[in-house]
Amino acid sequence: MSDLTDIRQDIEETNVQYEYINKLKELVREKSNKLNRELTYNVTTFGCQMNARDSEKLVGILEEVGYVPADDEKADFVIYNTCTVRENANNKVYGRLGYLHSLKKKNPEMIIALCGCMMQEEVVINKLKESYKFVNLIFGTHNIFKFPELLYNTFQSEDMIIDIWEDTKRIVEKLPVSRKYSFKSGVNIMFGCNNFCSYCIVPYVRGRERSRLPEEIIDEIKSLVDDGVKEVMLLGQNVNSYGKGLDEDINFAKLLKKVDEIEGLERIRFMTSHPKDLSDELIEVMASSKNVCKHLHLPLQSGSSDILTKMNRHYTKDDYLRLVDKIRDKIPDIALTTDIIVGFPGETEEDFLETMDVVRQVEFDSAFTFIYSKRTGTPAAAMDNQVPEDIVKDRFDRLLEEVQSISRKKANAYTGSVQSVLVENVNAQDNTLVSGRMSNNSIVHFPGNKSLIGSIVNVRLTECKGFYYIGELDG
Ligand code: 5AD
Ligand code: SF4
Repeated sequence: MSDLTDIRQDIEETNVQYEYINKLKELVREKSNKLNRELTYNVTTFGCQMNARDSEKLVGILEEVGYVPADDEKADFVIYNTCTVRENANNKVYGRLGYLHSLKKKNPEMIIALCGCMMQEEVVINKLKESYKFVNLIFGTHNIFKFPELLYNTFQSEDMIIDIWEDTKRIVEKLPVSRKYSFKSGVNIMFGCNNFCSYCIVPYVRGRERSRLPEEIIDEIKSLVDDGVKEVMLLGQNVNSYGKGLDEDINFAKLLKKVDEIEGLERIRFMTSHPKDLSDELIEVMASSKNVCKHLHLPLQSGSSDILTKMNRHYTKDDYLRLVDKIRDKIPDIALTTDIIVGFPGETEEDFLETMDVVRQVEFDSAFTFIYSKRTGTPAAAMDNQVPEDIVKDRFDRLLEEVQSISRKKANAYTGSVQSVLVENVNAQDNTLVSGRMSNNSIVHFPGNKSLIGSIVNVRLTECKGFYYIGELDG
């Protein structure tokens, strides 16, 4: 089913889903009474920050209707929120479904559900219908807001329920959300992507770009702040094209400025920025703000202008380098991180050396490096000259070594300084330590206890351990 009616910020739909939530509360209570125990859930998230935020929405609804969390997948309701950006993400899900099947044989009450990007692929649905008949519920990225209704229908049905939409213009918010952290939260500002980078499946599985209204975003952040949130991460596949298609005169820089003015909010991050759309106005807003974090994730993908053209990225190597200079000129202490793909079809050794050259010139604080993964249906999948595996592996290893040695060198530069740190958790390995993040997103561990979680404190960085710091409270 496809729904392209242009209903933004659809309040009526929110009310419909609340009715299902009420009906579900009844069903969960009945079942719980029958079994003489509480019903448990387990949500596993694959992929990006968008999926992490979606999972918080799923958990919010499950808890609202009366489920309680289980530590692992031995639960009454198990859902995988999937990613499909690279093929190995899909393989992981198939592998784990086998395990879920064995659990379901022991617990006939168990409901298995799948959602997220991978479910938007027809080949995946066909395979699930054919070989994974024990799955109860499958839905996609566009109708996640219908989760209460779909769960209700699953309770009533013996058959596999599949509901996938091709696209949507609807934005349905204001349903229950259970935040993983009390002090920080993702906030969706837009959905979908119109860029069609030739290797990327996201535009096909997340649909066309649509922006939330600025007042909806601001209201959501204000209520998060009232609820104790200190840091927000504004989320979109390409935040720099925020506002296109809205009636108001708004763009990402203007939105960021409005968010920066929210009383009580202490830190603002955002993800992800496409270099082609990063405006001077945005650099100005970042430079003049005290709450926008000193960190920018700016995916390079390749340093070769030829490959960038084939990737449909709309910038050259020089454009990227010039942009970095401009940003560092205005915000000298900014941390720059990036994504890089090696082994894109037709990538030659010279192309790869261009990427290495950009890595050396820019000196990224850190970089996520990926081996190109062929995604069926994308233009790159049909390109000639797919690069042999052994060559890709060799380039990947050389790139990783370079990236890591630069990261270590850059990190070391902060040793001895005092930084403000948002404390996130007690260290899992050593409970005398707590861990937090600096404005530039670096992690620091230092002596402390759980009472510090959620506060912003000054920490002296005493030692750099490569990718993280050891520190001590200062003053
Ligand atoms: N193969 C490898 N990496 C990919 N990415 C997106 N599509 C692919 C693909 N087909 C990477 C890009 C993007 C990040 C989220 O995932 O680097 O920025
Ligand atoms: Fe994929 Fe490019 Fe859109 Fe990012 S900007 S989601 S890489 S198509």
